[in-house]
Amino acid sequence: MRRARAIAVVALLAAAPTLLAGGIAPEARRSGYAFMGPETRAMQDDDSSNPGMLFVLDGETLWTRKTGGADKACADCHGDARSSMKGVAARYPAFDKAAGRPVTLGQRINLCRGNHQQAAPLPYESRDLLALSAFVAHQSRSVAITAGDDPQLKPFVEQGRALFVQREGQLNLACTNCHDDNFDKRLAGAPITQGQPTGYPLYRLEWQTLGSLERRLRSCMTGVRAQAYDYGSPELVALELYLMSRARGLPMETPAVRP
Ligand code: HEC
Ligand code: HEC
Repeated sequence: MRRARAIAVVALLAAAPTLLAGGIAPEARRSGYAFMGPETRAMQDDDSSNPGMLFVLDGETLWTRKTGGADKACADCHGDARSSMKGVAARYPAFDKAAGRPVTLGQRINLCRGNHQQAAPLPYESRDLLALSAFVAHQSRSVAITAGDDPQLKPFVEQGRALFVQREGQLNLACTNCHDDNFDKRLAGAPITQGQPTGYPLYRLEWQTLGSLERRLRSCMTGVRAQAYDYGSPELVALELYLMSRARGLPMETPAVRP
């Protein structure tokens, strides 16, 4: 399977010898949704068949549950998420003054757990962190992405862009070689998309569960036989920020479904 994938990559590049490493014009940006078959689209569109909605419902329960040394629930401070959290995920990762750097939505939630609930951080990819993230991000469904607009984020967006165009791994490929230069082509039978981050956390049929954008990026890195950055590392957060700024104006879809 992995060998077949590597051969497919080599074939892809043989078919496209000139890699331009160019960007995508704003009006040409398309969510991964646009590349999916009708059945997977229907699954995402109908909340009663979208498996990601189960996580959103779990997140709603956690939102009102008192926890930690402070015995406070998210709702005790933030009230009704439908108004207080609307549009928030569309501008994450956001600059955190105390840290002096961008934090992801998941990291922000854990900051609230530590600083405001006196509770231990939830581990990356844990069901509770994914559920809370999905619940918060769901309040931004259909909201246009604005992440990266804050001028304080500029150097971090630039760092992410540099990582996006940097070749890596045994296959010596950069993100841009697949997601800017070769979207609309196929890799081992599956369409290559623009790598837009509009739907996270999302339900991936291959994972049989919800997963974060970081998990998705790590699997692309492993795919080119590169050492994947750690969850929460500055590099992964910068890449996430660049992807979100690159998706400027596209609507949020959380929880999306992907093959
Ligand atoms: C005791 C009050 C309190 C509790 C409890 C609390 N928060 Fe917060 N939250 C804040 C404050 C205050 C901020 C503003 C940033 C800061 O000072 O930490 C914030 C910021 C946020 C933000 C960023 C909002 C933005 O506009 O960027 C999110 C998302 C968030 N909280 C989610 C949660 C979630 C999810 C929980 C429960 C797991 C939670 N918070 C629990 C007080 C709280
Ligand atoms: C060899 C080609 C290749 C490279 C290089 C690659 N990816 Fe991917 N990527 C894929 C394929 C194939 C998928 C799954 C189908 C799709 O969404 O394109 C994918 C999926 C994604 C998605 C999910 C899109 C969605 O709709 O949810 C994102 C985001 C992404 N890649 C970002 C990256 C980043 C960032 C890098 C560089 C660290 C990278 N990729 C490197 C091939 C590649």
